[in-house]
Amino acid sequence: MGKKILVTGGLGYIGSHVVVELCAAGYEPVIVDNLSNARASVLERLERLTQQSLTHYDVDIRNRAALETVLERTPCAGLIHLAAFKAVGESVEAPLKYYDNNVAGSVTLFDVFERAGGGGIVFSSSAMVYGDVKVFPLHEGMPVQPNNPYGSTKAMMEQILADLVNAPGAKTLGLSLRYFNPAGAHDSALIGEDPKDRPNNLFPIVVQVAVGQRETLTIFGDDYDTPDGTGVRDYIHVVDLAQAHVMALRELLNGGFEQRFTALNLGTGTAYSVREVVSAFEREMGQPLPQTLGARRSGDVATLLADPRAAAQAIGWTAQRDLPDMVRDTWRWAGAARQWGLWDDDDSAAAP
Ligand code: UFG
Repeated sequence: MGKKILVTGGLGYIGSHVVVELCAAGYEPVIVDNLSNARASVLERLERLTQQSLTHYDVDIRNRAALETVLERTPCAGLIHLAAFKAVGESVEAPLKYYDNNVAGSVTLFDVFERAGGGGIVFSSSAMVYGDVKVFPLHEGMPVQPNNPYGSTKAMMEQILADLVNAPGAKTLGLSLRYFNPAGAHDSALIGEDPKDRPNNLFPIVVQVAVGQRETLTIFGDDYDTPDGTGVRDYIHVVDLAQAHVMALRELLNGGFEQRFTALNLGTGTAYSVREVVSAFEREMGQPLPQTLGARRSGDVATLLADPRAAAQAIGWTAQRDLPDMVRDTWRWAGAARQWGLWDDDDSAAAP
């Protein structure tokens, strides 16, 4: 059996893909997920996909006693921490909910992991930590200055992890992965993005329009300073993202980093506009997508683009998949999810 790795949020969109790649690399994932934004059936689909039985604990990361029990029962050499709330708008409405779950939860989790003997922690961060910057591409040396509570929780968690691993006698090493815009799904179509709440992100919204759960895609502004005026993002395939976690973890457990804490961008270095994403979907589906031009969404920036060179240098990772791959896999996953009836009675996912 390979090394055991605790994966919090392991049944979520990114976590489920990380679990698959951990298994493929010979690690043994131990999943902690309280199902706050995931379906229990993900576990069965993951077992089908990986052809192995998986361990899942239905535990909240704020529950210290339960986490202690998990690590006593199944000591883990590494921790990939993805469990968090992630809706920017909601974080503005209910900031304390975000600080409690994301920040307080991480403090508890990191403390329990360190006391249980420590190891390598790979933390799920976000390009949101850079805030509203106007210079591109973004590299890791740029200032961390988030401009919404969600981004602040990610920046705080990075700082907490950095301080923990640099404390005298610490047994843990830390790595933070700053995601740009994850998209796509596993090419088996067994797992993919499946938000419990109403989605806010472009890909799941396009899917809802394409399958008739939502009338139209509202394009949030076409007067940005970008080639076609619509927002430009560095979309990254979720399988590329998942593979980066495993490569990062391996390097961390092998002591391959000079510093005890490192932050790396995970992006492709290529960015696409909203209109380019929509066109790619239309090509894949062979039909036009209903769309309407709307006002800018508050808090949106014109462009987000990663400088991905540090990750290439530190862990030998570069993204292998492009926008057509993301669109094709998203569309295939949507077909499978609908066939199984996953989205049938999903009032929350439907447009009001
Ligand atoms: N967009 C639309 N219409 C929509 C939804 C989005 O035009 O209905 C546009 C946005 O204005 C933006 C682009 O599509 O230009 C991408 O928007 P997303 O909501 O998909 O992604 P964001 O760049 O806003 O970032 C969000 C979260 C981040 C997270 C990222 C990836 O705020 O924390 O998604 O999940 F990292």
